[in-house]
Amino acid sequence: MATKTENNSASAGKKEQENLSQANLQKQAGNQEQNMKDSSLHKFFVDALKDIYFAEDAILDALGKMESAATTEELKEVFEDHQLQTKKHISRLEKVFKLIDETPEKKECKAIVGIIKEGEDIINSTEAGSMTRDVGLIIAAQKVEHYEIATYGGLVQLAITMNHDKAADLLDRTLEEEEETDLLLTEIAETSINVDAEQED
Ligand SMILES: [Fe+2]
Ligand SMILES: [Fe+2]
Repeated sequence: MATKTENNSASAGKKEQENLSQANLQKQAGNQEQNMKDSSLHKFFVDALKDIYFAEDAILDALGKMESAATTEELKEVFEDHQLQTKKHISRLEKVFKLIDETPEKKECKAIVGIIKEGEDIINSTEAGSMTRDVGLIIAAQKVEHYEIATYGGLVQLAITMNHDKAADLLDRTLEEEEETDLLLTEIAETSINVDAEQED
């Protein structure tokens, strides 16, 4: 019959073994995470996040200018609401960076710089207070939304592929808001602004 001391040392040995296998599992998980972080796809994903993080910030600024430049209250309101949503997009991106254990950083997005510049040109080439100005602003804003839709659409799929489920959910919520904004812009163009602009001299 085993003595109490033998029993104690047997259970201590078992505990040590358990600790060792737990440490091995943690090490394995750590290695897997490091491998994941070294992969080209992960680096590409992080780069794309930095690009859209820069873009959202630039869009926030541009929306303010578009709101001031718009003629109708209707369009001003759309731009105002989308500024609030854009602030949420920025904070969601910060959460996504955190979820994948990366630091939020901005990387210049040349595409959005160009699209925003085009919007500024439209403001400069249309008369203040005109409906044609709003027609131009809607088209400029839709180019921004379409850029975002393409980007978030790709990022959601990539996050799913890489098993970043929570990140995919957050990116998908933003994608839906970009799509809704795009539809809203189409609706106000079709139901009033384009028609009113046509009546203009
Ligand atoms: Fe956005
Ligand atoms: Fe947007």
